Amino acid sequence: MRETFPPIIIERLKTIVGADGLLVDHVEIEPYAHDATERLVFFPEAVVKPRSTKEVSALMRLASAERLPVTPRGGGTGLSGGALPVRGGLVMSLERMNRILEIDVENLMAVVEPGVINETLANEVEKRGLYYPPDPASRGSCMLGGNVAHNAGGPHALKYGVTKDYVLGLEAVLPSGEIINTGGKLLKNVTGYNLTQLLVGSEGTLAVVTQIILKLIPLPPWRQLLYAPFASVNEAAVAIAKIFSAHLVPSACEFMEASAMDIVERRLGVLFPSRGTSQACLLVEFDGFDEGLLTRQVERAGVLLSEEGAVDVLVCDSTDKQREIWRLRRAIGEAVKHFNYKEEDTVVPRSKLPELVRAIKEAGGNHGLGVVCYGHAGDGNLHANIIQGDLPESEWQALTASAIPEIFRQTVALGGQISGEHGIGYVQKNYLPIGIGPLELVLMKSIKKIFDPHGILNPGKIFPDHLG
Ligand code: LAC
Ligand code: ZN
Repeated sequence: MRETFPPIIIERLKTIVGADGLLVDHVEIEPYAHDATERLVFFPEAVVKPRSTKEVSALMRLASAERLPVTPRGGGTGLSGGALPVRGGLVMSLERMNRILEIDVENLMAVVEPGVINETLANEVEKRGLYYPPDPASRGSCMLGGNVAHNAGGPHALKYGVTKDYVLGLEAVLPSGEIINTGGKLLKNVTGYNLTQLLVGSEGTLAVVTQIILKLIPLPPWRQLLYAPFASVNEAAVAIAKIFSAHLVPSACEFMEASAMDIVERRLGVLFPSRGTSQACLLVEFDGFDEGLLTRQVERAGVLLSEEGAVDVLVCDSTDKQREIWRLRRAIGEAVKHFNYKEEDTVVPRSKLPELVRAIKEAGGNHGLGVVCYGHAGDGNLHANIIQGDLPESEWQALTASAIPEIFRQTVALGGQISGEHGIGYVQKNYLPIGIGPLELVLMKSIKKIFDPHGILNPGKIFPDHLG
């Protein structure tokens, strides 16, 4: 039986968010019992949907007094279980705080609430010739609050940076219910510790973000995409570093292994072009303000990719062709979900990518596990999805329990880390000590304690079980 709050708590919650902002019915709560992480399900006792910072603050004050666990939630598209209410209590969905408060065309900034969908902001600013580059694959449904919590990336992080590079200021509610403001509409600011950037990527464990000041940039009008299949995974991986050592500046550089492309083709019933028997494919995109300069870069990159062994190099110059290739690339993460799988989000210095791919394949092979790799190769950020296939559950659990730490240890040995953009959340927390030293862990845990002395905000996340 699911636990429920005593009637007095339910009444107080209702007073704060209104009857339409509170869900307690099992069926209504179900969508909030999971996010996009594997097949994990945790039911909260109730879901609250505040409409304002004041309501968030009142909810946190109540939660703090009553020691109720609170799990903040955006679009529920996270891949490490950050929005799963693993200790029950309240899910606080920010979906009704979804206003774009301002698009400031003089300062090139936007002020938004956390429930704004990433793509909604991108489209709005595009109408004014502006660009908000962070574009996770889930951009059509993920929310900016969640993007801040996870410091979300995406393909264009390569040239334009990740969410942190755009967050200039925050309003946030502490677990105590107190409201803080950090940063501002400022491109420079060294006034005290950088609390803004401490909150970015903290996965909703330190404070609930209620307002975000984001930097915008002018939208480059020209864009071209190269699509290059390679006979072998290694040749594709080696070609990536060559693009950069030639001082080309792609706006995106993505890697897809043949098995990842197969899965998308089967799920969507659409074929990638010109694949033949190739084992991997690179997408290399350029954008800019000068069409001639862009064309020269594309030509040079095309020659380079051919020299590095690409069996074909297609230039997708029409917007429709580009959109279609991107649609297929972005579909990989969703298509893989058709299988039972575990997703790892490794990141290494770009030049180490060929070694990382080899190490992951070997670690999988040593354990008899199939691993499907794809990701943001230009960033050295490789998503490795381990597929259960026909393995019985107990064997699958045992094999992944030894393969995953092996993959992570090899990643760290290459100078990398165990998550590039999906975060630690719930599913990776016990691996954190592979990537983070004991002193650094103690510092992180101390910061958590200062913000959240009663451990009520998104408990059971980031820190390994032995650290609570
Ligand atoms: C992607 C998501 C899964 O790159 O990060 O498709
Ligand atoms: Zn990704």
